[in-house]
Amino acid sequence: MLITLEGIDGTGKSTLHAALAESLADLNPLFTREPGATWVGDSVRRAIAEQIDPVTEALLFVADHAAHLATVIRPALAQGQIVISDRYMDSRYAYQSVTLEGVVPHPLAWLQALHNGWTIVPDTTFLFIMPVDAALERLKAKNGREHFERKEILEKVQKNYLEIARADPSRFIIIDALKGKEEIAKFVAAAIRQIAGSSRSRHRR
Ligand code: TYD
Repeated sequence: MLITLEGIDGTGKSTLHAALAESLADLNPLFTREPGATWVGDSVRRAIAEQIDPVTEALLFVADHAAHLATVIRPALAQGQIVISDRYMDSRYAYQSVTLEGVVPHPLAWLQALHNGWTIVPDTTFLFIMPVDAALERLKAKNGREHFERKEILEKVQKNYLEIARADPSRFIIIDALKGKEEIAKFVAAAIRQIAGSSRSRHRR
């Protein structure tokens, strides 16, 4: 079972990831992330820092995804493990649709075509939504902004996320990221337990 966490920078996904590690320990899930679950992620970090050409950057994110699937996600799923990834394919669809605007025709379709047929579509995606100003306020505390972390970009990224969710509503659970950390962690943990329970009973049938 594959669960992903998505949302603009500053929505608290990474904090949640840590909280879930504790509250779901008995299910022995594998916690992972994009970018950077493999060494390919080092080139992605460099690409982000150096602000290289957007096509190169997008393809490095996709390469990181391919390596992540091959070396981390597929083996864990094959063992029957629950995999929880902080960011996954929807990050490309939401962010690179913005960075590739005017660079390639129909960026979202281009990105989806790059993934279709070999990626694994998550069973459930938790999408964290909050006002961009509040997200940026939270990011202020952090040093070294990435080039994505600008208001006009994050507004578009969040809009893209909502459109992607609207096109595939059965996969998405939308979370109000302004709610308290503990309340969110409790809700998400309970939802994952429920999904894990129903997927086990489906397999038994
Ligand atoms: P992340 O590691 O989640 O952020 P942080 O360094 O703040 O923990 O992701 C780094 C940045 O990369 C973030 O701004 C989102 C962006 N990103 C994309 O643009 N496309 C992608 O496919 C992924 C996975 C991340």
